[in-house]
Amino acid sequence: MRSFHTIEDVHRAARRRLPKMVTGFVDGGADGEWTLRANEAAFDGVTFRPRNLVDVGHRRTGVTVFGEELPTPVMLAPAGLARLVHAEGELDAARGAGRQGAVFAVSIASSRSLEDIADAASGPLWFQLYLWKSRDLLASLVERARGAGYQALCLTIDVPIVGKRPRDLRNGMTIPPRISVGSALDAAVHPRWLYGLARGDKITFSNLVGLAEGDDAVALGTYVNTQLIDPSAGWEELEWLRDLWDGPLVVKGILTPEDAQRAIAAGADGVVVSNHGGRQLDGAPPSLEALPGVVSAVGDHTEVFIDGGVRRGGDVVKAVALGAKAVLIGRPWFWGLAANGADG
Ligand code: FNR
Repeated sequence: MRSFHTIEDVHRAARRRLPKMVTGFVDGGADGEWTLRANEAAFDGVTFRPRNLVDVGHRRTGVTVFGEELPTPVMLAPAGLARLVHAEGELDAARGAGRQGAVFAVSIASSRSLEDIADAASGPLWFQLYLWKSRDLLASLVERARGAGYQALCLTIDVPIVGKRPRDLRNGMTIPPRISVGSALDAAVHPRWLYGLARGDKITFSNLVGLAEGDDAVALGTYVNTQLIDPSAGWEELEWLRDLWDGPLVVKGILTPEDAQRAIAAGADGVVVSNHGGRQLDGAPPSLEALPGVVSAVGDHTEVFIDGGVRRGGDVVKAVALGAKAVLIGRPWFWGLAANGADG
């Protein structure tokens, strides 16, 4: 196996493996991508205040989350359609995360079913939901997650409508996709990726199969965007979900102390300070900047997590020093998966 020394090495290897359409989907953000850039820049803007000649002979990275000891404060953020970057998709992500004892938060939009992912996993799993219109569907997914042994639910609240992502529009990464001569040629010069894509079943939203007329990604994606997404969902929906699930419930997409307090009042056990990796509301504040306010508001009686722009160990330390219990990474695990499967 090639060795990677920094996340930038991994990112470069991933870019070599993937066509532009897929790279744009993974790496891109909403609108002018200001929030996307600001997430990483916020970490660069925080420095340490090192005190030396302190005994650091014993070091540990472990952390207790919802009563469970974890060896690392790094978790895999929910991100859909991982088979776009690697044939095994979320199965390899679960295998890789399990080897490190890292939590894997599985997306409702995963390309492998939540049950198959649970079978491949050896570490703790969370299941991520959106508050879509059909309560029957959500209730059945919660039941499936419970049956498959998921430990926590993660409710993402920052997608009232899907963000406008210019790279996807430009590259034809839309529903349905627009394949041009250029993108077909680009795919052809990435044979390893094409081979992975052709292996096995078609890539689709595996948890949602059976919902729409067709079971392919285009039919299901269209169904989600036209029938299920619910721009009018409110906090009472969270209370409904709370009644359905007695395990830990985490609300992802919090950027203000007020929303953190509302989430906790509605029954959440934890919050993820997140702007969806800059993929939703461009102009939203960088997560790291929003973290301290949320920690002061609810940190005493709840677990506060963060994602967006975490790229190296030092970033994890900065987030934890500013009050986060643990961090989630999104794009970095996609890059690792693309570059080298479960090992990546
Ligand atoms: C995401 N994200 C996301 N979030 C979520 O709650 N459900 C989802 O299905 C997805 N899908 C998704 C796909 C891809 C390709 C990416 C990159 C991201 C957002 C994700 O959970 C997380 O908030 C961000 O990725 C964190 O920012 P970084 O680590 O990518 O900078």
